[in-house]
Amino acid sequence: MRVDLADSVRRFWDADAATYDRSPDHGAATPTERAAWSAALARLLPPAPARVLDAGAGTGFLSLGAARLGYQVTAVDLSPGMLARLRESAEREGLSIEAVEGGAEHPPPGQFDAVIERHLLWTLPDPAAALTAWRQAAPEGRLVLFEGLWGRVDPIERLRQQAREGWRRLRREPDHHHGHYDAELVAELPLATGAHPDEFIRLVEQSARAPSAYTGLTASWRAWAGAPRGASLATHPEVDP
Ligand SMILES: C[S@@+](CC[C@H](N)C(=O)[O-])C[C@H]1O[C@@H](n2cnc3c(N)ncnc32)[C@H](O)[C@@H]1O
Repeated sequence: MRVDLADSVRRFWDADAATYDRSPDHGAATPTERAAWSAALARLLPPAPARVLDAGAGTGFLSLGAARLGYQVTAVDLSPGMLARLRESAEREGLSIEAVEGGAEHPPPGQFDAVIERHLLWTLPDPAAALTAWRQAAPEGRLVLFEGLWGRVDPIERLRQQAREGWRRLRREPDHHHGHYDAELVAELPLATGAHPDEFIRLVEQSARAPSAYTGLTASWRAWAGAPRGASLATHPEVDP
């Protein structure tokens, strides 16, 4: 990734770190959601204590969830501000997570049993190169992408998104982020306006040269409140979609 691009992305997320975890979209707002995420991780990952790399870990939503389940987690992120939050949360819970500052396109050395990511691919200038690097970091392992339907991809989802946004404003809840990427940055990122699951599957199959499985994780009872709506793509043939 170009240095100026990486700097802009890092600055954005350093500034977002203070409030990122306040958004119900970014965490698990209820015990049920937390249990659902935990079940999804346990189902999609190889058995604990496998070695898991969380790419673009941010404040550690997936890293913390995996560490709670007994995985050995390495979290990599460009933003020291986001990683500082992750370290604080891990310490609070007595969890051991290795947090590495750096680009997810260049994973820390070592072989992993799984690479996981949530909502990172949209902010990478070359998602295919990152997927290839992750496959090399876990050649025999599993790649699990948690992605959502958002942006311009799906007209129905777009309407839901607008309704959720209206509801948030009505309730005077703070925005999910402190700001937005500027147009110049967005122009450098091929998935920054959203991508359909077809696109992710194509990317995984081309870059990581692995078969994909797709699991819908839509929690419809919470969709209006902006709960985690995601799709996970796992490139391991044993995954039961
Ligand atoms: C939308 S947040 C997602 C954070 C976390 N995965 C989650 O699910 O809450 C995107 C994260 O990706 C990180 N990031 C963006 N580009 C990156 C890159 N090239 N390498 C590593 N981290 C990156 C940002 O710093 C930010 O923490």
